[in-house]
Amino acid sequence: MFMGLVDCSILKRAQDKSLVKIVVHNLRDYATNKHRNVDDYPFGGEAGMVMQIEPIDNAITALKQQRNYDEIIYTSPDGEVFNQKIANQMSVYENIIILCGHYKGIDYRVREHLITREISIGDYVLTGGELAAAVMADAIVRLIPGAIGDEQSALSDSFQDNLLAPPVYTRPAEYKGWKVPDILLSGHQAKIDEWKLHQAIERTERLRPDLLKSEE
Ligand code: ADE
Repeated sequence: MFMGLVDCSILKRAQDKSLVKIVVHNLRDYATNKHRNVDDYPFGGEAGMVMQIEPIDNAITALKQQRNYDEIIYTSPDGEVFNQKIANQMSVYENIIILCGHYKGIDYRVREHLITREISIGDYVLTGGELAAAVMADAIVRLIPGAIGDEQSALSDSFQDNLLAPPVYTRPAEYKGWKVPDILLSGHQAKIDEWKLHQAIERTERLRPDLLKSEE
């Protein structure tokens, strides 16, 4: 599932250009029991299975022997909510491990001892962390210089300066009587830039006033 998501579009292009390497590891390959199980019944007798610490520890240890990791992330709805600031920070990292959570959970000792950060992609519960990992991968990789065609466009994204992006238009200048704002056709770049900033501020105040209140 994860590879299906990261082997297309921007993530595929970035990998083809060797700007990033995304490797999926199957925890079963690190299981030590005969059936290669990676989960077991929970202590304390709840329903459902819990991912065991041993295969996870084995996997992380093996990976850390090959390279240093800036962060070992666990995806979970309990985590810090992912945002553009975290994406920016992670886009300059050399290596990260994203350990995908599992709907019934993993042995809590993994979270206490093996990971460095817990990240949620929003206040809702997914069945597993794979979608969360793919969302993070997309947001992070597109910030790597060269990953998207026009480098300028990552800088002008919504959120990059805590502002929503201004509206954009293309030809025709009028469609069914619906007109592109005159200022954009004026050729007066300074005025256009001023209009864009004004639009960005106005849209942020109207649609996402919370972004203007955050300290950063
Ligand atoms: N796993 C389940 N729900 C999640 C969420 N909202 N964010 C990250 N990982 C998750």
